[in-house]
Amino acid sequence: MRYFTLSSMTKRILFTIAILLGWVTARSQGNKIPAGNAGKEILYGKDLIARTAYYFGPNGKAGHLTNGMNCQNCHNYAGTKIYGLNLSATATAYPQYMARTGNIMSIADRINGCMQRSLNGKKLDTTSKEMKAMIAYLKWLSKTTVKQPGSSSILKLAYLDHAADPLKGKAIFVQKCQVCHGVTGLGLLAPDKTVYTFPPLWGDDSYNDGAGLYRVTTFAAFVKSNMPFGTTYKTPQLTDEEAWNVAAFVNSQPRPHFDQSGDWKDLSKKPIDFPFSPYADSFSEKQHKFGPYQPIADAQKSTTKKN
Ligand code: HEC
Ligand code: HEC
Repeated sequence: MRYFTLSSMTKRILFTIAILLGWVTARSQGNKIPAGNAGKEILYGKDLIARTAYYFGPNGKAGHLTNGMNCQNCHNYAGTKIYGLNLSATATAYPQYMARTGNIMSIADRINGCMQRSLNGKKLDTTSKEMKAMIAYLKWLSKTTVKQPGSSSILKLAYLDHAADPLKGKAIFVQKCQVCHGVTGLGLLAPDKTVYTFPPLWGDDSYNDGAGLYRVTTFAAFVKSNMPFGTTYKTPQLTDEEAWNVAAFVNSQPRPHFDQSGDWKDLSKKPIDFPFSPYADSFSEKQHKFGPYQPIADAQKSTTKKN
């Protein structure tokens, strides 16, 4: 009798383990890199995103195309960090209409947007092995089970009711950023001079003024959830005010220029914080760059209503 009780209990335990194992396998299957060439391509793509400078930087092994930064410097953990410019939903979102260019963009075009602006570099041939590998990685990533809580790659901040202040931002930079990014903001190259240990925040090797981070709202949101390094959106170390101010300071420092004369042909689609005129409204370049943004948003809303 006792034997039977134990046996049915054992059966029950074995059954539970089997279900758990099945569940774990099913969960991890979405995440598993396939064997063979397909898997190699995905891993190559991931490495290109994590160590871009090793391949494309000033001393790059696959050609000199970029400024020495890595995609991962911004798209943290190869694009998998929640609200760290997460890329896990990206592959399924393209091709996509982009108001900046007024065109339908493929994912390769969008990657090249970051090559030219965020990495202040040259476009990659869209048929190259490297472009294909990065896309293969992003496609694989979009099938993984780990998704960010919201649909956004970054957790936007509420607007301040006043302009962000670069001078106050400088004090934050000195207290909380320069220990890694350097007193001069130019970052720290690794001893092999190929990859940055701490990437630059301005200067010749930084993102140019056509990049997403050059917009104060994007920079403030990124920094709030991710900096100083080790921060997550659950453990922010800056107040919103500090994040806005340090964004205003860093984006007032010198950096490469990108010819954006072809962008935003439809002025009404320009983002509120786009720092270069002309605009569809009469607010100054300075207000567009540093805020306060709410009056601009309100004015845009009332124009849309009238039309
Ligand atoms: C200096 C920071 C920075 C670097 C470096 C950078 N990016 Fe980006 N990237 C951004 C920002 C900011 C956005 C816009 C995100 C947004 O608006 O939500 C973006 C957007 C993208 C998007 C579109 C995401 C989407 O879901 O629509 C892709 C794809 C992308 N980057 C790929 C890359 C790749 C690949 C590299 C390296 C070759 C790279 N980026 C380097 C900052 C950067
Ligand atoms: C403990 C070191 C450390 C501190 C302190 C720190 N950062 Fe960073 N930061 C990093 C590292 C490392 C990266 C690259 C992350 C990666 O590659 O995974 C980075 C990346 C960045 C990036 C994106 C890449 C670039 O260079 O444009 C920005 C913007 C940034 N940090 C801003 C800041 C700001 C603003 C502060 C202060 C509030 C700050 N960081 C404090 C280490 C630090």
